[in-house]
Amino acid sequence: MPAKVLLELKNVTIKFGGLTAVSDLSFKLFEGEIVGLIGPNGAGKTTVFNLISGVYRPTEGEIYLNGENITGLKPFQICHRGIGRTFQVVRPFGGKSVLYNVMVGAFLRTNDTRKSREKALEVLQLVGLYNKKDVLAKNLTIVDRKRLEVAKALATEPKLLLLDEVLAGLNPAEVDEAVEMIRQIHKSGITILLIEHVLKAAMALSQRIMVLDYGKKIAEGSPEEVTSNPEVIKAYLGDNYGIA
Ligand SMILES: Nc1ncnc2c1ncn2[C@@H]1O[C@H](COP(=O)(O)OP(=O)(O)OP(=O)(O)O)[C@@H](O)[C@H]1O
Ligand SMILES: [Mg+2]
Repeated sequence: MPAKVLLELKNVTIKFGGLTAVSDLSFKLFEGEIVGLIGPNGAGKTTVFNLISGVYRPTEGEIYLNGENITGLKPFQICHRGIGRTFQVVRPFGGKSVLYNVMVGAFLRTNDTRKSREKALEVLQLVGLYNKKDVLAKNLTIVDRKRLEVAKALATEPKLLLLDEVLAGLNPAEVDEAVEMIRQIHKSGITILLIEHVLKAAMALSQRIMVLDYGKKIAEGSPEEVTSNPEVIKAYLGDNYGIA
């Protein structure tokens, strides 16, 4: 059976004044995939997430989820339809417990406190934060804040999860653990689009990679294909990250 298209962007452009942050971007995500979105700083990656999740409305083009046009819907409506996301800059309710923060996400699907607590505990188990459920969010280490960010998104029960640099700032051992966590999330049946500067991890996780540069998709393919693409190498030259 051919794979089902879960998300499709058709010729999406967004301009901020004179700056075209995303330019004529088209791609499809198939159900069950893990796809990496990479590119130098300022390439437009987070803006793509903001477009998909309804934070911004495209200047031109359309976005489809399961064949339905979701362009211009509000973030809450898009979340309700099954797209969850993490934020590059994490912002939990610092003075509240980990469990409370995750229950806020779970309340998207239920009004029942007991059910939302159950859901929150289930996702805390999945991201490895169960033992810290009563810790105040502000007292978490960076790696645990990243886990919390993922847990909040998972609690909304997404079909598609958008992960924005959840590996940034982690040490190599923590990156390995987080990669394993992302694999587990994927195994649970969630399609994943991930933005990553830790290219090794992006390559290890992704079946397919798309490369953005100055808002344009300059390459797409297997990790091997994109890393040997001269245009991609050129886009990364002069960037801090390198391609290895
Ligand atoms: N709300 C906005 N208003 C004006 N310009 C914006 C806005 N949001 C993003 N931009 C600009 O759009 C471009 C793309 O930014 P974006 O944050 O999407 O890049 P990125 O690829 O996620 O970069 P990084 O790797 O540093 O996170 C940048 O030039 C940024 O300054
Ligand atoms: Mg970004």
